Amino acid sequence: MKTDFKNGDYDTVGFSEDGRKLAFIDQTLLPGEVKFVETDDLGEMRQAIYLLKVRGAPAIGVAAAISIFVIANKLMENGFHEEESFMKALQMSAQVIAEARPTAVNLKWAVDRMMERVDACLGLGVDGIVDELKREAKLIRDQDVEVCRKLGENGLEVLESGQGILTHCNAGRLAAVRYGTATAPIYLGNERGYDFKVYADETRPLLQGARLTSFELSNAGIDVTLICDDMAASVMKQGKVQTVITGCDRVALNGDAANKIGTLGLAVMAKHFNIPFYIAAPASSIDFNTLSGNSIIIEERDGDEIKNMWYKKPMAPDDVRTYNPAFDVTDADLITGIITEYGIIRPPYRQTMRGLRDLIKAEQHKPMEARGHEI
Ligand code: MRU
Repeated sequence: MKTDFKNGDYDTVGFSEDGRKLAFIDQTLLPGEVKFVETDDLGEMRQAIYLLKVRGAPAIGVAAAISIFVIANKLMENGFHEEESFMKALQMSAQVIAEARPTAVNLKWAVDRMMERVDACLGLGVDGIVDELKREAKLIRDQDVEVCRKLGENGLEVLESGQGILTHCNAGRLAAVRYGTATAPIYLGNERGYDFKVYADETRPLLQGARLTSFELSNAGIDVTLICDDMAASVMKQGKVQTVITGCDRVALNGDAANKIGTLGLAVMAKHFNIPFYIAAPASSIDFNTLSGNSIIIEERDGDEIKNMWYKKPMAPDDVRTYNPAFDVTDADLITGIITEYGIIRPPYRQTMRGLRDLIKAEQHKPMEARGHEI
């Protein structure tokens, strides 16, 4: 994987140099330290996802796919040469990875895709299956780059040079392999001389906007201003924001979208100020099996993230009760459009999402350049 951070030639997640381990930037250390980590240990791979060392829906999908290959390869090296026992052991490990976090559907999507590959390759022998898993994981990684670029092209259609764009959390390069999702149109626009002014919400409690988005955008020479989450309404009222774009972790069939906690509030505010609110989502973040946002499982995290993390001294009474949901669900009727690699999906979502589902089925095997429609 590319690790030349100084010159901007790096991937967020990929294969180690020897091709046998999962490699990623440890995002918990950013912005202070840029450290690329490698591991082939199941517990460490699971913890990397759980502790948000590698995070963001597309990136954890890619990390999961590579982890499955790494585990399979290690099982083979450790003497699992018989398909049945290999398969059993791999399934148990795959489950551990799939359950590391519940909300981003990309995690399960990638694990399922890898395990379907195993099923399809039964009979090839364990070494044949492992080869196929490496190929599939590479494909998932490469497709992520291609998908985000295409999504960026589609997103640019609704943006104009000079606009103020507000984003939340980090749906940037650090949340995918390269361009990111919400940031993909911003990166592409920047390459073409668009003069965007980006506002990044700091994103309490884990500060992905402060630590990651403002860091990666300013490194890329993009005009970015960091604000606290509670300043967004005021910045909108001052006329500084013409478009809001966020990423998402799971879109339901009716267009409801789960994303980092705080996204729902932004969508409500955007509606109040008549500002278009877009979600950027690769098709891998769309869960056509989930009928509405009500069925999306929302990850709850330790209250310590609110009370103590980032502070030298505790900033709340030790025994105070906390509630720390990591995501919220934005109702479909607050979403102007969902920017995907296939085009921009607009209301009525009950109809257009089904159209997208059929299109994906029909175009699954076409190269990326041949995709893309207004749906
Ligand atoms: O908890 P995180 O940091 O993984 O949450 C990430 C987000 O909510 C992102 O907005 C989402 O995954 C989209 S990433 C392109």
